[in-house]
Amino acid sequence: MVTPDQFDIDQQNATESNNQSAAQDQRLTSQSIRSFVIRNGRLTKAQAQAIEQLLPQFGLSFSNQALDYSAVFGRTAPVWLEIGFGNGDALLDMAQQNPEFDFIGVEVHEPGVGQALMGIQARQLSNVRIVQHDAVEVLEKMIPANSLARVLLFFPDPWRKKRHFKRRIVQKEFLQLVSARLAENAILHCATDWEDYAHWMLEKLDQCDTLSNLAKPNDYSERPAWRTQTRFEQRGIRLGHKVYDLLYARC
Ligand SMILES: C[S@@+](CC[C@H](N)C(=O)[O-])C[C@H]1O[C@@H](n2cnc3c(N)ncnc32)[C@H](O)[C@@H]1O
Repeated sequence: MVTPDQFDIDQQNATESNNQSAAQDQRLTSQSIRSFVIRNGRLTKAQAQAIEQLLPQFGLSFSNQALDYSAVFGRTAPVWLEIGFGNGDALLDMAQQNPEFDFIGVEVHEPGVGQALMGIQARQLSNVRIVQHDAVEVLEKMIPANSLARVLLFFPDPWRKKRHFKRRIVQKEFLQLVSARLAENAILHCATDWEDYAHWMLEKLDQCDTLSNLAKPNDYSERPAWRTQTRFEQRGIRLGHKVYDLLYARC
């Protein structure tokens, strides 16, 4: 399983090992934010088994076709979407605590997908589906306009070095895309323990004229008590980092 520390090393190595994608990164459109590194993570036997046996049941294949939520979940309910769920710590808790809502989790990291699938089965959750794909493309192609009740972005990769800032998923184009997928008054909730990224998010979010800060402008929100402490958050707290929550409503 990839630890938060391994993530740091991957990010440091990213430019060198991904020079092929540098040209793509120059065109910063919503389609080309390269916010992740696909690592050759080792799958545990249990994760591999979960992917083989449970992905057909709980996974949604990437497609250029917009989803029909009622066909996917067999009912009509508000849909929350989590971007980059890691191992699914928060996703599974939210789904368990809110059985009246449906959840789509999007993650590119295969061991995390396997881990989340194991959790879905262990907790017998019927209201979660997983897409193993780039969340930007999922939002663009699979998510109907004005359809989401909430989008969650917890502890996204901070891409700490200046030359990597273009890899940060929170960019103007990304926020425009997310807000076009949110229903009216629906919420985008971001959290980070990386101070510089928190300021970056705050600036970009406040500049987005289709999103309205639920705290006052240029301010962070209270951490909602229900938000699960993920292992990336735990690591940040261990390192003495402050955690920032940013909640914005689609206006
Ligand atoms: C720093 S980790 C945080 C994971 C989790 N949210 C947590 O708090 O433990 C960021 C995660 O986002 C995923 N990720 C980054 N960009 C992504 C994208 N465009 N689409 C899907 N997943 C992405 C990475 O694979 C990684 O698992």
